[in-house]
Amino acid sequence: MNILITGGVGFIGSNTAINFSKKNQNRITLVDNFSRANVDKNAEFLKKNYPGIKIIKSDVGNLKNYKKDLNKSDVVIHLAGQTAVTTSVSNPAIDFNSNLKSGFLLLNEIRKSNPQAIFIYSSTNKVYGDVPSPTRTQLSSGFDETTPLNFISPYGCSKGAFDAYALDYHRIYGLKTVVFRQSCIYGKRQFGVEDQGWVAHFSKQFLFRKPITIFGSGRQIRDLLYVEDLIEAYELAIKNINKISGQAFNIGGGPKNAYNLITVIKQLEKVYGHKVKIIYKKQRPGDQDFYVSNNKKLKDKLHWQAKTDFKAGIKELINWQKDNL
Ligand SMILES: NC(=O)c1ccc[n+]([C@@H]2O[C@H](COP(=O)([O-])OP(=O)(O)OC[C@H]3O[C@@H](n4cnc5c(N)ncnc54)[C@H](O)[C@@H]3O)[C@@H](O)[C@H]2O)c1
Repeated sequence: MNILITGGVGFIGSNTAINFSKKNQNRITLVDNFSRANVDKNAEFLKKNYPGIKIIKSDVGNLKNYKKDLNKSDVVIHLAGQTAVTTSVSNPAIDFNSNLKSGFLLLNEIRKSNPQAIFIYSSTNKVYGDVPSPTRTQLSSGFDETTPLNFISPYGCSKGAFDAYALDYHRIYGLKTVVFRQSCIYGKRQFGVEDQGWVAHFSKQFLFRKPITIFGSGRQIRDLLYVEDLIEAYELAIKNINKISGQAFNIGGGPKNAYNLITVIKQLEKVYGHKVKIIYKKQRPGDQDFYVSNNKKLKDKLHWQAKTDFKAGIKELINWQKDNL
C-alpha cells in the first residue's frame, strides 16, 4: 500500500510511519512542516534507520509540494496540526489555518483527485468540551460517541469542525473517511511541553529534576493510551474500512487507565525514586475536569482494546527519554 502520513515526523506520525514501514509492501510518505519543536530529531532518526520512508517538508495546505504522492496514496492518515489549546487561545489564526484550512484543502483534493483513498483523521476528545456533571454511566464507563458535541476553545472548534467535514465527506461524496476522537496519547518520540503532551512533559521534568506546574487542582482525570495501541486501531480501521467508513470512534486508555495528574506524579516518583517541586496555578480555559473514553464502539466493531497498561507504557516512555537526553 502507498500510505501518506501528514504530521509524519511528529510524535504519533513517526511511530505510525515506523509501524507501517515494517510491514511488507508498504511505501510510506510523510508530509510535515516541522513546526513542532524538536520533531527534526524524529526526522533524523527516520532518515538514518528507515531510509525507505520519504519525507516531504511542507505545510499540508501547500498541495503542490506533494500532490503526486497524494494522488498515488491508498491511505492518508491525517495527523498534522496545531495541537495545543493554549496556542489556539493566544493565536487562533495559526490554529485555524493549520487544523481547519489546511485539512480542508487536503480533503477536498482527495475528493477531486483520489476519492478511493482511505482517509483517517486524528480528532480529539476536546470535541465534547467540558461536561460539568457527568452521569453515573459516564463516570464508570466513560464518554461514548453519543455525547453531545460542544466545541470549547479555538482548538476545540478547529478540530471539531474538521471532524465534521471528514464525516460529511463520506455522507455527501462517499469518501472512505474514519475519525478517531483521541484521548491522551503518550509514548516514545513525544516531545511533551507544558502546553501539550503532559505525561511526557512531567516525566521529562522528573528526569531533569525540574519543577512541574499544575494548572488547577491536579485532580483532573484523563485516560491514557499508549501510542502503539492507537496505531493498532488505525490498522484495524484500514483493514475493515468497508464496515466503518463515515464513522467516528472515541479512543483512549479507558476506565482501566484513567488517572489524575497527582496520581501520575506519584507513579513517576516511584519509578524515578525522587520527588520534584510542584507549583499550582489557575486552571486553564478549555481544560476538562473529567474525561475518560468509552471504547465500546471500537471494541464491538473492530475487536480493538487497549493492551498496554499505563504502568508498563510509562516505563517505555521513560527509557526512551533516558536514551535521548
Ligand atoms: N497526542 C495526543 O495526546 C493527541 C490527543 C488527541 C488528538 N491528537 C491529534 O493527533 C495529531 C498528532 O498529534 P501528535 O501528538 O503527534 O502531535 P505532534 O505535534 O507531535 O505532531 C503533529 C505534527 O504536525 C506537524 N504540523 C503542524 N501543523 C502542520 C501543517 N499545517 N502542515 C504540516 N505539518 C504540520 C508538526 O510539525 C508535527 O510534527 C494532531 O492532529 C493532534 O491534534 C493528539
